[in-house]
Formats: sequence, C-alpha cells, structure tokens
Amino acid sequence: MNAPAKFTTSQIRADFLAFFQGKGHTIVPSAPLVPGNDPTLLFTNSGMVQFKDVFLGAEKRSYVRAADVQRCLRAGGKHNDLDSVGYTARHHTFFEMLGNWSFGDYFKKDAIAWAWELLTQVFKLPAERLLVTVYHTDDEAFALWRDMVGVPEERIVRIGDNKGAPYASDNFWQMADTGPCGPCTEIFYDHGAHIAGGPPGSPDEDGDRFIEIWNLVFMQFDRQPDGTLIPLPAPCVDTGMGLERLAAILQHVHSNYEIDLFQTLIRQASELTGTADLENKSLRVIADHIRACSFLIVDGVLPSNEGRGYVLRRIIRRALRHGWMLGVRQPFFHKMVGTLSALMGEAYPELPAAQSTVERALKAEEERFAETLDAGMKIFDEIASRSGITIAGADAFRLYDTYGFPVDLTADIARERGLEVDMAGFEASMEQQRETARAAGKFGGGTALPADLVAQLRPTQFLGYEQLDAGDLKVVALLKDGRPVEAIAAGDDAIVLTDRTPFYAESGGQVGDTGRLSGAGVDFTVEDTHKFAGQFHGHVGRLVTGALRVGDVLSGSVDGARRGATILNHSATHLLHAALREVLGTHVQQKGSLVAPDRLRFDFSHFQPLTADELAVIERKVNAQVRANNAAEVHNMGMQEALDFGAMALFGEKYGEHVRVLKMGDYSTELCGGTHVSRTGDIGLFKITSEGGVSAGVRRIEAVTGQGALDYVGDEERRLHEAADLVGASAQDVVDKIRQLGERQKRLERELEQLKAKVASGATADLGSQAVDVGGIKVLAVRLDGFDAKALRDAMDRLKQQLGDAVILLAGVQDGKVALVAGVNGAATGKVKAGELLSHVAGQIGGKGGGRPDLAQGGGEDGPALAPALQGVLAWVNPHLA
Ligand code: ALA
Repeated sequence: MNAPAKFTTSQIRADFLAFFQGKGHTIVPSAPLVPGNDPTLLFTNSGMVQFKDVFLGAEKRSYVRAADVQRCLRAGGKHNDLDSVGYTARHHTFFEMLGNWSFGDYFKKDAIAWAWELLTQVFKLPAERLLVTVYHTDDEAFALWRDMVGVPEERIVRIGDNKGAPYASDNFWQMADTGPCGPCTEIFYDHGAHIAGGPPGSPDEDGDRFIEIWNLVFMQFDRQPDGTLIPLPAPCVDTGMGLERLAAILQHVHSNYEIDLFQTLIRQASELTGTADLENKSLRVIADHIRACSFLIVDGVLPSNEGRGYVLRRIIRRALRHGWMLGVRQPFFHKMVGTLSALMGEAYPELPAAQSTVERALKAEEERFAETLDAGMKIFDEIASRSGITIAGADAFRLYDTYGFPVDLTADIARERGLEVDMAGFEASMEQQRETARAAGKFGGGTALPADLVAQLRPTQFLGYEQLDAGDLKVVALLKDGRPVEAIAAGDDAIVLTDRTPFYAESGGQVGDTGRLSGAGVDFTVEDTHKFAGQFHGHVGRLVTGALRVGDVLSGSVDGARRGATILNHSATHLLHAALREVLGTHVQQKGSLVAPDRLRFDFSHFQPLTADELAVIERKVNAQVRANNAAEVHNMGMQEALDFGAMALFGEKYGEHVRVLKMGDYSTELCGGTHVSRTGDIGLFKITSEGGVSAGVRRIEAVTGQGALDYVGDEERRLHEAADLVGASAQDVVDKIRQLGERQKRLERELEQLKAKVASGATADLGSQAVDVGGIKVLAVRLDGFDAKALRDAMDRLKQQLGDAVILLAGVQDGKVALVAGVNGAATGKVKAGELLSHVAGQIGGKGGGRPDLAQGGGEDGPALAPALQGVLAWVNPHLA
C-alpha cells in the first residue's frame, strides 16, 4: 500500500467538516458535556445528544442536515469506559466524535455512500481494509453495501441481538434506556493480520485487529420506559466516528495514545512525573483524564460527592493515583491544562477562556486528596497483604469513608495486583452507614413536631442548671411512633413533653440527660432527652408501669452521676478550646463537639496533625486552669452585650436574643447553653487520649476528665507493667528493652528473607528445564510447596526471564491453600490470556482468580484435583498456540 500523507487531528476535524459542508450540511458547534435539558443522561455520550429533541420531533431547526465534532464523555451512566482506560489501546473517558445528521432528510443510501466516499477518497483508506456490519434484519443496508458500494459479501457481517434481549445488539444503537434508537451499520478497519483478533461477530472480536471506526445509525424509534418502540415522526440518520481512532489509522499507529494529540500530553505528563518510559500506562491514564477533567470543569462541573461532581472527582483521583504511582508527591495534574488548552483551544474556544478556573479547581482537588492518598495507599497495602484475592467490602468502605478512595479507584488498584473488590459487601457497608445516619436523625432536633402541636405549646422551662430533681412537671404532650397521642400504656416506647424539666436536652454537643419521670403508680424511664424545634425538651424512653395521660403531673429525677461526669467534660471542652487557640493560633474554630459522661471529643480547624509537644503543652495549660480552681461564672445577657463582653460565639450556631455566657477565670469566655462545673477544680484531671484527622483541615481531639482520667492513667500504667513483664524488664527499662528486641527482630527478618530467597531461587533454578516446548513457546505448570503469593511472583519473574516466550502457571501450596499465578510472556502474549488460564485451573480446585492478559492471580484449595489440573494445563494451552 502507498502510505498516504499523515493527517493531524486538527486536519481530520477540518476535512471532516468541510466534506459534509460540501454535501449541504450546516456545521454546528459541540454542545457541552452536561446535557442541557436531559435528566435521563449524566453526560453527553455521543454526538446525537444535542439533537435528541429534533429526532423526537419536539424541536425544529433551520436545517435538516448537520455535521459537527462533539466532545463526549463515557464515564458513569449507561456508556461507561472509565475502568478500561489505561488497559486498552482505545478506550477513553473523554473523546471526540465526528458526526453527520439527517433530520428526516436523507437516509441509508446517502449516509452509506458519503461515509465510504469520505473514508476512501478524502482520507484515502484502502477499501480492502474496510469491513462492515449490519443489523441482522437490515437487508436494505446489506444490499446497499454490496450493490451500490461494492463491498464483497464476505466482508459484510450481519449482527443479531447479541446482548441478551430483543434489540439489544451491537448493531442496534440507543442513547440511553429510553429515547431515540435504531439499527445501525458499522465500518471497521483491519489493522492487519499481525495483530490478534477476529472480525466482528467472531469469538475473538474483542482483539485489536478489527476496529470499529464509524457507526451509522438509522434512527427510527423512540424507546419507552416499558421497552416498547414507537416510530419517530421521520426516519433520521445519526453517525459517529471516533476522532482518536481515525487519527490512529491515518497516522499509521496502532494505539490511540500514539496519535499527535496524545503524544504531546504524554510527553508533558512524563516531564511532570519524571517518567522516562513514554509507554508507561499511567502516563496514558493521566493524558486521558486531563481531557475529561478539564472539559467537565469548562462545562460547569466541580468535584463533589454526588452526581456529576462525583464522577469528576473519581476521574481526578484516578489520575492523581497514577501520578502517585509514578512517584509524584506534589500537585502536578493542573499543570497540564495549559498544554491541553494550546492543543485543543482552537477547536473548543471555551477551554482557553476557562483555563484559570480549570487550573484552580484541579489544584484545589489535588491538594485535598494529597492529604489522604498516601495514608490510604498504606492502608490498601495492609489490607491487600491480609486479604485473599478478594478485598472485603468493609475494607473498601473504610478506604472510601476515611481516605476518600472512590470504590472504583480501589477496584482499579486491586485489579493491578490481580485482586478484586467485594462490591456487594461495599454496597452493604454504604447502606449500613446510611441507615445509621437515618437512625441518628430520627430523634434529633431535626425531627419535626407536628406544626399544630408546636403552635399550642410553650417552650419548655429548663430547671436543670440548678436542680436535678423537680416536681410538678405537667405533661403537655405525648408522642408515640412519632405521632401525638392522648395517653400511653405500660410497655409503650414514647416521648413525653412536660412544661418544665430538670432534664438537659441534647444540644451544643452535650448529650441529653437520662433518669426517671414518676407519679402515682407511674414510672417512665428516660433513656435520652432530645430538643424539638429548638425549644421543647422531649423525654425519650419507655413507660415501665402505670398509664400516662396528657395533663398528668410528674416528678423528674436526673441520673446525677452521669450528669456530674458530663459537666466535667463540658467545662474541660471550653478550656481545651481556649488552650488550642492559645497554642496553635486563633484560626482554630470549633467544628463539632461531643460531650458525654465518659469522654469529650472536640473537632476544630487546623491544617496539620498536632505534634506530641503541642499536645503536651495544651494538656498542661488546661490542667493549670483546673488547678487554678476558678469559679465558672454564668452571665445572662443580650447577644450584643455578650459579644462586647468578649464571649466567643461559634460560627454556624444559632443563638437567641438572650444568651448565656460561661466565663472561667480570664481564660475562657464562651456562649453556652450547656451545664457546667461550679469551679474548674471539679474537673480534677484532664487527659488527652487521641488526636487525629477528620477531614481536610479538620482535626479531632478526644480526652477524658475526673475519675475517667484517673482510670485512663491507671489503665495505661497497668499496661506498661504488663508489657515490661512480657519482655522481662522493669517499667523503667521497658523502652530500651523493646528497642533492642525490635532491632534484633529486624535483623532476623532480613536474614530470613535472604535465606528464603536463596531457597526459592534454588528450588526454581531447574524448573525451567521442566517446561515443554510447543512450537517455540515454553509451557510450564508446577506445584511449589511452601511458596506464598510473593514468592510465587518472584519465581514468576525469574521464570519469565529465563524462558522468554512462555506460558507459566505456578501453584504455591501452603497450609492446605493454593495460591495461583499465571503468566504469559514474549511471543505467547495475545495468544493465551493469563486470566483465562488462571480461571481454568482455579475452577478445578474450587477457587477463582483473574487479572491482566499477561499476569493473573488467584487461589483455591489443595487436594487431589490439583495434580490433574496442573497436568491439564498443557492440553488447555496447546490449541491456543496452534
Ligand atoms: N450515536 C452513535 C454512536 O454514538 C452514532 O455510536
């Protein structure tokens, strides 16, 4: 073949549009990635999206023929390619689709004729390299290809409903589960016999040899939610040709990533990540993802935790993780926007216009994820080392919840190592979290009392600042199952509202009181106290004896020990807040708090973990305030007066007109409706038990006070003695002793590693000679006793090197379990898929596994089936190599 001139991507876009303009088409700009008014669709996934209403007859345009180059995204939703990007030569999240349209104008004949003309005359593709498919019943399209175009019959393939349902076919296109659809004909390019793969419709159609380049859809129906197909007002044409694929062909390269546009991006990614190998898969992922992410932001999407924003976040995080794998620890991704803008700005002027917004949004997301990526990867390694081939759903959930790893990111990392994620388990953990959140919200202040009840009631008078026991509490309302009732009976779970109460209702982080409400023959256990509508104290609990009616009068008695312990923690929280601001700076703001009887938890804004020194200083300062034994003074005043008084108000909290100010010495002055100690000395002892991160820029300290702090210290002391006993040292020397033991252990481990490696290479040294030669390819399947997964992988690497063109299956047997590794190397690549070989063997020993075409891992049980399974490998491999 005469190699025609190379076409740049810009040239291809221009030639395509000019060709169809010459055929009377109006050139239309690309629509945004976010479809304007289509709630059925997450993203513009093909060129026809912006014309959906035109097909349906709901919108009229001034033209009946159109052509464009549409930016598309296939990540999330019906057409989702995210997981494949980086693993194949041709999948992208973002890509460009060249398309031409007829709205009730021309139909199959012209669509087919022009497509052929463009490909063979303008782009000069050799006709003998092209192959077409038609929907199995579309005789008309078949005849047009054969008789009008002259494609030999054997290169026209009929494709039926090959996706398990009527009209579910590679040759029946639909935009989404509902909407315009119709049969299609596809044009394929044959990359040549040197590439593995069969023609469309054959068992090996997934190979890379025959690549679909252009899809011509004959839109005829509007699919309804129930699956029925209603004819469109007029038959239309919708075509889509992947720009990147076409460019690969026209630039004589095999992979889309080798085209001009991607090479420029890949080169920049290689510079930014210091990666010399331009073939590195991660560079491809980054080059793909920068396009998707930039254009999503151009089109108004920002990273978030739901919907489109979450898809964007997932793509960004996937890119960052690949950067991380390349060793990058600084923000780098946003630095590619400028290059992208230079490459694609002419075709899409909206990109340069939004360049700085895109850069800023990406950089912010990079900084956010950087904080947890490192820690998350460590956790992943830890999880992977103790998991079999399946990462438990709960572990994937932990990575998601704590480290911000979207589950598909975890699955992606897992896949690289031949592992998989228990998705159902992950979903279950998610659901459980939602459930917990729902349950927590059930009685919270957010639960609405019926409006008519709120209108009738007066705010509850709170007596609990001064007293824990009070009589003469009149029942003003009773709620059962969330609804007001007149009376409740023994055994009922209910909420009792009284006109006055000594029970503190949960707010400001302080937990609600527990205790009893009682009257003549009536005993109601108060399990918690919630605040409703910000002003009504609801006693949540169970009527143990008697019957209770609205209007009855009760006495209340708060669990004093519990409340007493709680107030120590509450006052200590204020002192801690003041100490944090003193030591770390006034940027420290309260972000949340829990004041319970047994501990306090305080969340606050700060950018980095606290050092041990900082924690010690803070603890010392709080305890100094405790020993100063200042009175805790309460002042009731107007809001403005309180602020003038220097009281600290919490951002985002709602305060009434009249506020309560709690002042402890000159150290802490805060607005607070909670209950507190009378003197700081009551706190006794303040002890920090933990410090950690909650989310980006928010830290959490947990601490204990009073008897709780003494118990904590006592407990630590006991553990110290126990540890000292165990290592045969005194409490004084225990640290030195453990250090020595640790060093010794490290030394021993090193020695053991060396010995293991020696033994393993000895054991595998002559394995190579057991390989059977099948037409120049070495086939080896062996059992290796005492080999764990890592030893197996090392052995695999050695054997691949040693044998060159080879198919290798290793079975490491340990404690009744079999770890399997399959590897395909050199000339065997593409002929045998490691994943398939692995599944074949694993299936016979009650296990499973999978992985990449060149390396797969899995496992199963040791037993009588193993030996025949290994013997059978040769027979299984043979036909693939024939
Ligand atoms: N809408 C058709 C496709 O995306 C052309 O393949």
